[in-house]
Amino acid sequence: MAETKTPTVLPFPNSKKRPATTHDGDAAAAKKASMLFSGESDPAAALAAARHEFGEHGGVNMSIEASATFTVMEPETMRRMFSGELGPDRDFFIYSRHFNPTVLSLGRQMAALEGTEAAYCTASGMSAISAVLMQLLSSGQNIVASQTLYGGTHALLTHFLPRVSNITTTFVDINDINMVDNALVAGESKVLYFESVSNPTLTVANIPELSRVGHAKGVTVVVDNTFSPMVLSPARLGADVVVHSISKFISGGADIIAGAICGSASLVNSMMDLHQGTLMLLGPTMNAKVAFELSERIPHLAPRMKEHSKRALALAQRMKKMGLKVIYPGLEDHPQHKILKSMANKEYGYGGLLCLDMETEERANRLMNLLQNYSQFGFMAVSLGYSETLMSCSGSSTSSELSNEEKQLAGISPGLVRMSVGYVGTLEQKWSQFEKAISRLQDSGLFNKN
Ligand SMILES: Cc1ncc(COP(=O)(O)O)c(C=O)c1O
Repeated sequence: MAETKTPTVLPFPNSKKRPATTHDGDAAAAKKASMLFSGESDPAAALAAARHEFGEHGGVNMSIEASATFTVMEPETMRRMFSGELGPDRDFFIYSRHFNPTVLSLGRQMAALEGTEAAYCTASGMSAISAVLMQLLSSGQNIVASQTLYGGTHALLTHFLPRVSNITTTFVDINDINMVDNALVAGESKVLYFESVSNPTLTVANIPELSRVGHAKGVTVVVDNTFSPMVLSPARLGADVVVHSISKFISGGADIIAGAICGSASLVNSMMDLHQGTLMLLGPTMNAKVAFELSERIPHLAPRMKEHSKRALALAQRMKKMGLKVIYPGLEDHPQHKILKSMANKEYGYGGLLCLDMETEERANRLMNLLQNYSQFGFMAVSLGYSETLMSCSGSSTSSELSNEEKQLAGISPGLVRMSVGYVGTLEQKWSQFEKAISRLQDSGLFNKN
């Protein structure tokens, strides 16, 4: 990891470094800091155990710190803040591209959710991913990554990072532990990167095993948990860093683009370093008003995830019974079903995403068209985690960055329809809408179910 020696302002005191007690409220700040890392194994319990931020006037909701800049009482304080002596852990803030109290509060919730020491939120999932990778790697170093990743991340690793920084990536099949082990070259590889549940193929990563192999080679294990918040807790299973596109399930509203990096205090602090920090210097800052909005949605993430998972499992079972080629990690015939079951937090199910392999793009498009415009089952749209069902043909949309050969390696068939299963309406209503579209597809002669 590109750790810095430059003094920095620490919002998250490292466990070894307790803040000094020379400022009013320091004892309280130290107490609050020690409560960040509750050790609860269930994400909802950890969230409930995390510090609750009240509003300035005793409001049950926190106040929004909408300031870009912060004033001081004495000029000397400014110098002490810039030297790293006074920081957010003691309620000293400089400027909101650096640390903002409201964004920091959302970061505390994300850290509790993922069971990490610290977290900080960014303007998008992609900025969280690119910032953490650029922090962890230097020019000429190597990433070992899953060959099945979100198209944007795949393009970042394949095209962007080699061009701008000579950071290269070796793509592997993460289900082949020997292949991963062989690809990790001690001293050269710095990061092992994968998605807990992959976009779009829904391959499930064996997080404890991959973390063990990665750590044996001295690399930082970074996991994108966008598809399975609550369901899986990669850091509790051994990973070092968890990244999220908050734009998806965590937001739940399909109205906000946001991201987060959850990891050690030293990582988050290094990313805010005034001289070497990617968050500080590239500036993918989250707006405080957005942080407030998102913070209000986290308390109902658990029930939302349970309902997404419940609906997805019921639909997947019925689709399978109908003879459709359905991929859902909650089905016993999914290749990683047992691994997922062994890793999953109890009661959150197996996630809200399922895939239907319609084999050809024409059939996939025809089905989606009927599901949206004829039977009102869902919407043709990319993204996921919304209350309504969203459907897209991955090969020609969110994975279009991959070449045909890369898609084949990743297991993305041209007719793969990814569905983010929503929870509006009743299950029976949604199922009858689905059946109606399938009957129409059969009538058209384009498709024969068993
Ligand atoms: C798994 C995964 N990671 C990261 C991203 C990027 O997130 P954002 O769109 O918030 O930048 C996406 C977006 O689709 C995604 O599916």
